[in-house]
Amino acid sequence: MCGIVGFVSDKKIKVSDLILGLKKLEYRGYDSSGIAYNCDNKIKYIKKTGRISELEKVALDHNLLEEPFYCGIAHTRWATHGMVSEQNSHPHMDCKEQFAVIHNGIIENFQELKNQLEDRGHVFKSQTDSEVIVHLIEENFKKDLLQAVLATLNLLKGTYAIAVMHKDSPNEIIAARKGSPLVVSNIEGISMLASDVTPLLKYSKDMLFLNDGEVAVLTPNKYYIYDLEGKPIHRNPTKIFWDESLAEKSGYPHFMLKEIFEQPHSLKSALVGRLVNGEPQIQEIKYLYDFVKNKMNKIYVVACGTSYHAGVATKYFVNKYSNIDFEIEVASEFRYMNPQVDDRTLVLAISQSGETIDTLEGVRIAKNKGAFVLAISNVVGSTISRESDAVLYMNTGPEIGVAATKTYTAQIALLYTLASQIIYWKYGKNNEIEKVLKEIEKVPKIYEELLNNTNGHMMELVKKYKNFKDMMYIGRNFGYPAAMEGALKLKEISYINAIAYQAGELKHGPIALLDENFPVFAIVPFGGLRDKMISNIMEVKARGAKVIVLVSKEDTQTKKIADDFIDVPIVSEPLLPLIVAPLTQLFAYYIAIEKHLDPDKPRNLAKSVTVE
Ligand code: F6R
Repeated sequence: MCGIVGFVSDKKIKVSDLILGLKKLEYRGYDSSGIAYNCDNKIKYIKKTGRISELEKVALDHNLLEEPFYCGIAHTRWATHGMVSEQNSHPHMDCKEQFAVIHNGIIENFQELKNQLEDRGHVFKSQTDSEVIVHLIEENFKKDLLQAVLATLNLLKGTYAIAVMHKDSPNEIIAARKGSPLVVSNIEGISMLASDVTPLLKYSKDMLFLNDGEVAVLTPNKYYIYDLEGKPIHRNPTKIFWDESLAEKSGYPHFMLKEIFEQPHSLKSALVGRLVNGEPQIQEIKYLYDFVKNKMNKIYVVACGTSYHAGVATKYFVNKYSNIDFEIEVASEFRYMNPQVDDRTLVLAISQSGETIDTLEGVRIAKNKGAFVLAISNVVGSTISRESDAVLYMNTGPEIGVAATKTYTAQIALLYTLASQIIYWKYGKNNEIEKVLKEIEKVPKIYEELLNNTNGHMMELVKKYKNFKDMMYIGRNFGYPAAMEGALKLKEISYINAIAYQAGELKHGPIALLDENFPVFAIVPFGGLRDKMISNIMEVKARGAKVIVLVSKEDTQTKKIADDFIDVPIVSEPLLPLIVAPLTQLFAYYIAIEKHLDPDKPRNLAKSVTVE
């Protein structure tokens, strides 16, 4: 969701630098963009709805791309309050255009503040909640920008990450955060800020992640951190090891495809040093041994979307190999329930971005109730990883495509390894688990073969099924999270109404939907439940629906009754969601391509969901 970037430097920066920064944030999701910069003590700004390339075109048409300045801020907006329009795009300016503000988050008391400001004569140009911030700064400004921002922040209810410029302070940007992410950095005469590290990696690897209630003053040579009362705070930056090239497409037409093909490598990185010759050895959680062995009586997963699906797969895993009580809840529900967690619960907060607001609130609630919260995240320094008691990083490198792909498979592999370590601690070693873990170590190799050999056949299927408006994914047991994830991938990037059910639930309602216009994707297990699944496929076929089976190469019997098939390598049952994921991802990807949709930027979606 909304992206923020800004630079203040003693050397000249150009509009094109700000635009490049915005492009690195595109993946977060947005519908308009804008920039403001200080030119000879005058704030210039441009805004545009649609893609950043549209904004770039405006800058090009007006010969602004190479215009130099020392201080500038830029923003991608994901509309919440007020429609998508240039007026509602950021930056917002005060009545006299002395200040420019960009904002990510929601100001909950904006209406009340706006009424008061209008009564006092302020004229608003947008319908946004954000514009109140700049008018309040205008009112609170005496001589000092920091003091004006602090006074303003104390009036705001809700969430924000902001960056503020003043026309008479060309060497200064003030930034602040509460609830929405913000990172600052400095190197050789340039200070910068952004919603996440991707626009800044080009310049520096040392990042300081602002905490809630912190304000940063950026000047070319240094940045200073304060609390909301203006007291200085001293904290060291975190070193980020991501390479800028990881956030490039490297010859692939889309990030999503690149990330699908990265899975042999990303899965390996997630497990390095953690799963060694079939042995779970996660050093980062060694100190949890006593808690797990002697106190823990429940695992509770809190997550959203794809991360939730990885959690569901883990539930089946823990349930298959132990008696540990395991609950899982979607974070947006968890936070408004009375979740049964206490100081004997291990809460796993799964979040690729580490910024999902619902999961973050879940973390806070669980911690308040005394639980130990372990975050599983891909983003070093993200809010969830910092607020949790401990964190396991997925180490997959940045995921830019909005649809989660490589982080999902890394999550499953890492969560299975974690669950195994916990089960071993509680009950001792287990040969069946060891067999599964040894197979997980072979998955990167299996992925390589799978990804290199599916294309031709996959494209035939894509052409045949791309025009259907609906599609159902069904699975049982470990096949169920695989079905949910397959359906989510398809719906979010191809806009086909793809839904998922446990195959046994069909006859309790969903089967009424099926006819020749509603194909079914059946994920067929290799073991005990295969026959049950075949019965479900027969029921579906009897309603005239076409069936595509994801099935082992050898299973000719199932292939015969299906309309189409995709071969799946035979693995132990728990690996089913892991092994079919690249196939359902590719199917969704190519359907989107055939429909001329951009899979990296699905409509209405954001990579980092920082509003509720
Ligand atoms: C789907 C997808 C989303 C995310 C969800 C949670 O492809 O990416 O469903 O999984 O928004 O995001 P994180 O894992 O960042 O908390």
